[in-house]
Amino acid sequence: MKIQTKNILESGDSLDHEQHESLTHSTTVHDIKELVLELDQKHFLERKVKFLLDIRGYLKLNDIKGNYVEFGSYKSEMQYAAYEILNSTHTIEKYIGLDTFKGEPTLRLKDRAHAPHLEKEQFSASYQETEEFVKKYLGDSGFLIKGDFRHKKVVSKLDSFDDFSVVVIDCNLLSSIEAALNYIIPRTVPGGLIFIDDFYVNCSQGKLATEKAFSKILKKYKKKGSKHSFYAPFAHSFIITD
Ligand SMILES: C[S@@+](CC[C@H](N)C(=O)[O-])C[C@H]1O[C@@H](n2cnc3c(N)ncnc32)[C@H](O)[C@@H]1O
Repeated sequence: MKIQTKNILESGDSLDHEQHESLTHSTTVHDIKELVLELDQKHFLERKVKFLLDIRGYLKLNDIKGNYVEFGSYKSEMQYAAYEILNSTHTIEKYIGLDTFKGEPTLRLKDRAHAPHLEKEQFSASYQETEEFVKKYLGDSGFLIKGDFRHKKVVSKLDSFDDFSVVVIDCNLLSSIEAALNYIIPRTVPGGLIFIDDFYVNCSQGKLATEKAFSKILKKYKKKGSKHSFYAPFAHSFIITD
């Protein structure tokens, strides 16, 4: 990279006042454009892949075992990335994805209030195509659950899987996030991780609605959520403990 500012810093010198003064505005404009290109997101799955890479060593070293579950798995792309990245740790049994496969379900009043940009049927993925993809790339390790998991008859299909060690909540709607958390918090192994992709999504009234729901549900089940990492622009991960 040819950013002048960076080269000065890399040479071991500090960027003192004199050097800074010598930079012209056009150099700075050029530098900033390059810097933006370098630091900007390269792929829409970047923050999710980064999280999965970040937790490999943690799971292995601490021998945290269980299933991977993703609430709002859409086309199973993150689910596949999880398999690709975490399978070699031998800590995950199954990779399970839940989705309506018809896009966002009916919005409830609280969903409209906190995230007015969302619409019914956004993110609609074909169940048949996704099932074929999961079968091809995850084999017996992959599993899909179709339907609105806010309903007990859908979410209870997870009952046959015992413990969950890596939980992804990526379903935008506050009512879906609450349903996912209410099901999964008591079933997450101690030391298990929760990645909430929508942590800073439901904020349109200037209130951190997802954070509030998360704290309330942790309290209800007498669990703790220790801050793990932030993945810009919306996501936060936590380690769940008793
Ligand atoms: C942003 S997309 C998920 C993206 C996916 N995790 C990925 O990384 O590629 C949000 C998904 O949540 C699903 N969703 C939201 N609420 C749901 C609910 N109550 N039941 C099932 N699926 C839901 C939508 O159908 C949509 O596919």
